[in-house]
Amino acid sequence: MTYMKRKIIVANWKMNPKTSREAVSLARAVDKSIGSIKKAEVILAPPFLYLDCVGKVIRFAKLCAQDAFWERAGAFTGEISPLQLRSSGVSCVIVGHSERRALGEDDEVINKKLKSSLECGLRVVFCVGEEEKKQEISFPPLVRRELHHGIRKVKKNLLRNLIVAYEPVWAVGTKNADTPKNIYEMSALIRRELHLMFGARIASHIPVLYGGSIDTKNAALFVGEGNVDGLLVGGASLIAKKFINIVKETSRP
Ligand code: PGA
Repeated sequence: MTYMKRKIIVANWKMNPKTSREAVSLARAVDKSIGSIKKAEVILAPPFLYLDCVGKVIRFAKLCAQDAFWERAGAFTGEISPLQLRSSGVSCVIVGHSERRALGEDDEVINKKLKSSLECGLRVVFCVGEEEKKQEISFPPLVRRELHHGIRKVKKNLLRNLIVAYEPVWAVGTKNADTPKNIYEMSALIRRELHLMFGARIASHIPVLYGGSIDTKNAALFVGEGNVDGLLVGGASLIAKKFINIVKETSRP
């Protein structure tokens, strides 16, 4: 386990909920319950449209965007820049999520987004993960490629704001959860790769999270036996009670 004491639990709401009223009430419920939990850092990633109203009702949770463009301003219809996110109270952004990769984002686009977001002062939750369930212990070449291409040419001093999320694509949104053993192996392989890329000092400060079909039953097990620094939670983060339980379970002393 790396130096971190507090577990990082990110709620990826994806394109949910249906109304801003529901978003506010979900954020309120979560925020109210996590104030007393000192061992977890909770980060909420609502859709862009709700960042403002969610930001207004949270005191303890941090605000995260689900995407950011790489340019800072200009004629880019429909895009949102990392600077605009910063000025709206957002401190974090998810980059490289498999659902965005499936929509056509390649390593080059992901690298531009990651670099620009870090340069603008955002923390980046950078997702990597193999598509098919792997049989052997070796490091899937795809995950190695995603790591190397995604974090290419990033200034070393910006890496303190990098968080890597291991999200095997076959486990995302499928209820087909991973095993603690695989999470343990993969998080170790990812840390080793980061070590080879950036050296021990920098690598040991990069948190490695797990994401994919997390629920109240597997969360604590995956964090404990999987030896990760936190979780990226999709579906289960939309039900306040479930998500709060996940935060509580994983941040026990
Ligand atoms: P899930 O999603 O928890 O619904 O599998 C995880 C994610 O997409 O980050």
